[in-house]
Amino acid sequence: MGRGVAISFWVAIAVAALGAVGCTTGDDPGPPMPVDPAVIYAQMCARCHGLDGRGDPEIRKTLPAVRDFHDPAFQARASNDEIARVIMAGKGQMPAFGAGLSVPKIQALSGYVHRLGTRSGQP
Ligand code: HEC
Repeated sequence: MGRGVAISFWVAIAVAALGAVGCTTGDDPGPPMPVDPAVIYAQMCARCHGLDGRGDPEIRKTLPAVRDFHDPAFQARASNDEIARVIMAGKGQMPAFGAGLSVPKIQALSGYVHRLGTRSGQP
């Protein structure tokens, strides 16, 4: 039980934070906010998956299914389309983000997850 409520809570916080980021100040409307997957990832995904994509050590105690995006088996299996599907629809204990993220953001995130996993150093 409780966990679903906690997840909605965090999603609400993340969505509110994203809204704040999108605000422009002053009289220059500027270009639309670019989609920055690193920011979205840090806000919505890192608490489970870790900033470096290896899985948050605390979370892994309760959600051992959280995988290391550096795992070659994951890299070989997961196409950007497949990753996008998981982000949109969820999988097992991975929450669905389809309601909170636009399709371009989800696509940008899946590319980001792929890059995280192929990078050897720090994020
Ligand atoms: C509440 C913790 C949690 C959050 C937040 C979370 N995930 Fe996950 N994620 C999981 C778990 C658990 C799994 C393993 C699901 C399974 O295979 O059972 C997973 C799996 C995945 C996978 C692998 C799917 C596969 O096919 O192996 C990807 C990619 C992923 N998450 C991306 C993301 C992205 C991007 C975000 C942010 C938008 C995110 N996750 C947020 C818990 C989380």
